[in-house]
Amino acid sequence: MKRIAIFASGSGSNAEKIADYFAGRTDVEISLILSNNPKAGVIDRARRLHIPVLLFDRTTFYQTDRITQFLLAQHVDLVVLAGFMWLVPAGLVAAFPDKIVNIHPALLPKYGGKGMYGHFVHEAVVAAGERESGITIHFVNNHYDEGAPVFQASCVVEPTDTPDDVARKVQVLEHEHFPRVVDELLK
Ligand code: GAR
Repeated sequence: MKRIAIFASGSGSNAEKIADYFAGRTDVEISLILSNNPKAGVIDRARRLHIPVLLFDRTTFYQTDRITQFLLAQHVDLVVLAGFMWLVPAGLVAAFPDKIVNIHPALLPKYGGKGMYGHFVHEAVVAAGERESGITIHFVNNHYDEGAPVFQASCVVEPTDTPDDVARKVQVLEHEHFPRVVDELLK
């Protein structure tokens, strides 16, 4: 059995797509959803999907190794960041070499780095007059959005598109590709 732990800070639509994708599979389970945000939509989704949730605060995450130790004790094979907005501490990255992946809602290396997340990304893409955007799935290292890319997919940005329009196109790509790429990484 391969075990996935998902970190999410927000709505959790990607977490749910991944859970749906693996539902009924006997070789892979979503062992745990972890969140820094007690108000995150992902928590209701996890409850509905019968996936255990671990909430943690900033002090626990950055000043202790409890989260790392917990994931190691659970024999987690892959850590998936699905809309997780905090930088992963160095100790956690070191404990799971090439076993932590993030999804970013743009074509990295463009529109990445600290502060470039969620809607801010799509606003910047439209403000710059880009004619395409997309998604990047990449391994996580000690810098925001800089680990080795695993997969990219792109979409057209029309001159009339608003940031919300771009967000919708990018979300379609995320839901279409992220679960499948996670599956590939487990092999
Ligand atoms: C996704 O678009 C993901 O790419 C983005 O947050 C959204 C989460 O949506 N992640 C980042 O911006 C990371 N820097 P979800 O909660 O519905 O899955």
